[in-house]
Amino acid sequence: MISIQHVCKTYPGGAQALTDICLDIADGDIFGIIGMSGAGKSTLVRTINLLERPTEGKVVVDGQDVTALHGADLRTYRRRVAMIFQSFGLLAQKTVLDNVCFPYVAANGKVSTQDREHALELLERVGLREKASSYPSQLSGGQQQRVAIARALACNPEVILCDEATSALDPKSTNTILKLLRDINRETGVTIVVITHSMDVVEKICNNVAVLEDGCVVEQGSVADVFANPQADATKVLLGKVDWDA
Ligand SMILES: Nc1ncnc2c1ncn2[C@@H]1O[C@H](COP(=O)(O)OP(=O)(O)OP(=O)(O)O)[C@@H](O)[C@H]1O
Ligand SMILES: [Mg+2]
Repeated sequence: MISIQHVCKTYPGGAQALTDICLDIADGDIFGIIGMSGAGKSTLVRTINLLERPTEGKVVVDGQDVTALHGADLRTYRRRVAMIFQSFGLLAQKTVLDNVCFPYVAANGKVSTQDREHALELLERVGLREKASSYPSQLSGGQQQRVAIARALACNPEVILCDEATSALDPKSTNTILKLLRDINRETGVTIVVITHSMDVVEKICNNVAVLEDGCVVEQGSVADVFANPQADATKVLLGKVDWDA
């Protein structure tokens, strides 16, 4: 369980990106964080793997305050949390297989035969075994994101953070990626945190959702409840329920 407790983040220079965020994300959940551009979604998700350190508050994972971790302990923790991005983040000069093997290099300085076998199985899982020797530039965006998902799975993470993972994709590729993430969640029980500005994405795969506006959580609950009975203005706008004449 990930427990975000009273997290605030002020960037150097004074931009206050997050204010007193409290959220609990259960193990095995697919949890959506939705909000307009600049709401603080990326900052929030980056506090979970400590790419950003909260200026106040803490992030507690399975009872451990991970904001207190440093050095080797922090590196070990970060390996439990994988991340995928809008821009895929693959290494252009490496083959698909080498990209999927990259976390092994980062963790152990080498790739064992067993690692390579596991990487090929992961490519099989995302339907791209035959692209192992291709380079990222030879793949479509949707295929590149599937490689990024295989790479995210390489170290058997407990959590996958997805920051606008489908924003650069067409509707068909978006559905393929969302279904893949949902199936992987069901097969492995991995917790998935989905950042998006699309209610459509939330509706398709999330069980729970938090709505972020100007660095604050303005609404949270089960997707069914929030969609059926949105409370915050920001949620209504994101749902497209705008009263133009109000
Ligand atoms: N490295 C940084 N230094 C200073 N301010 C930053 C930095 N990163 C983000 N911010 C500011 O923090 C606020 C939240 O930004 P963030 O990137 O978290 O929003 P977001 O919800 O992910 O937006 P988008 O949907 O456009 O990706 C914004 O006002 C932004 O300008
Ligand atoms: Mg962002």
